[in-house]
Amino acid sequence: MTLNNLKVETLPSGVRVVTIAREKVLNALNSETLQELKAVLSEAAKDETVRVLVLTGAGEKAFIAGADIAEMKDKSVAEGTGFAQLGHEVTKLLELMPKPTIAAVNGFALGGGTEMAIACDFIVASEKAQFGQPEVSLGIIPGFGATLRLSKFVGLPRAKELIFSGRRVKADEAYAIGLANHVWPAEQFMEKTLELAQQIAQQSRTAVLKSKELMNEFSETVGLNYKLDSEAQAFGRLFGSHDQREGMGAFVDKRKPQFQGLKS
Ligand code: COA
Repeated sequence: MTLNNLKVETLPSGVRVVTIAREKVLNALNSETLQELKAVLSEAAKDETVRVLVLTGAGEKAFIAGADIAEMKDKSVAEGTGFAQLGHEVTKLLELMPKPTIAAVNGFALGGGTEMAIACDFIVASEKAQFGQPEVSLGIIPGFGATLRLSKFVGLPRAKELIFSGRRVKADEAYAIGLANHVWPAEQFMEKTLELAQQIAQQSRTAVLKSKELMNEFSETVGLNYKLDSEAQAFGRLFGSHDQREGMGAFVDKRKPQFQGLKS
């Protein structure tokens, strides 16, 4: 498959770095990028030479600034649901991959960006990282798994606060609330990330894999498909509503949205 939106590099240690490369739109995820991620992650899952996978974003500014709002804004209910389902296919590949996955969050990780990060086994952050679930400011809900996975990182009350308010969390706070395992200076960020990834890559592959399988199983990936599908359906139903059209239209037009309340 030709990759228009991703860079893929494998180091001699067996660490594969997958970089989202849509710098002009802060690495926002459109359908094409999600399809490419699906292909690249499926292949990495099978490739025995890949020991650890690192997901990151191109450029100085962003990891992933969310799903592509310009692409999403005119979607129908069925298209919105399908888009969330595609996002879930990608997040499940990260979460269930038979090898460790690390999110190297080098800048904005908003909406689908935080959701890709929390689908990885753990997150390391540059001091420039900012996390958040701003979907409510666009008239929608998170659609790539945050209603399920964010609370595993930060606990249910904090996950609710973040999803209800849409507020952004800087690197230090992300560390304090358990979202990021480490915060490293921007200049050393990839070096430190790769050092840790290489340390994992040197361990017994079987032992690391078995640990991941058990920890996933014990932390309720049971019912994963049902829960993610409920989220995708709820996400999709908001498409075409007044608040979704207004929220996303306002982002694209660079103005404040005027939400209508419970009417759609
Ligand atoms: N989808 C589509 N385009 C996006 C995007 C997204 N999620 N995030 C950023 N972009 C685009 C902007 O529209 C802008 O394009 P333009 O140069 O053609 O105007 C470009 O990326 C740069 O973004 P800009 O907003 O000018 O940068 P900033 O430094 O002022 O703000 C952010 C950075 C991340 C705070 C801001 O871009 C933002 O809020 N993005 C949306 C985040 C979001 O709501 N994500 C969840 C989606 S469900």
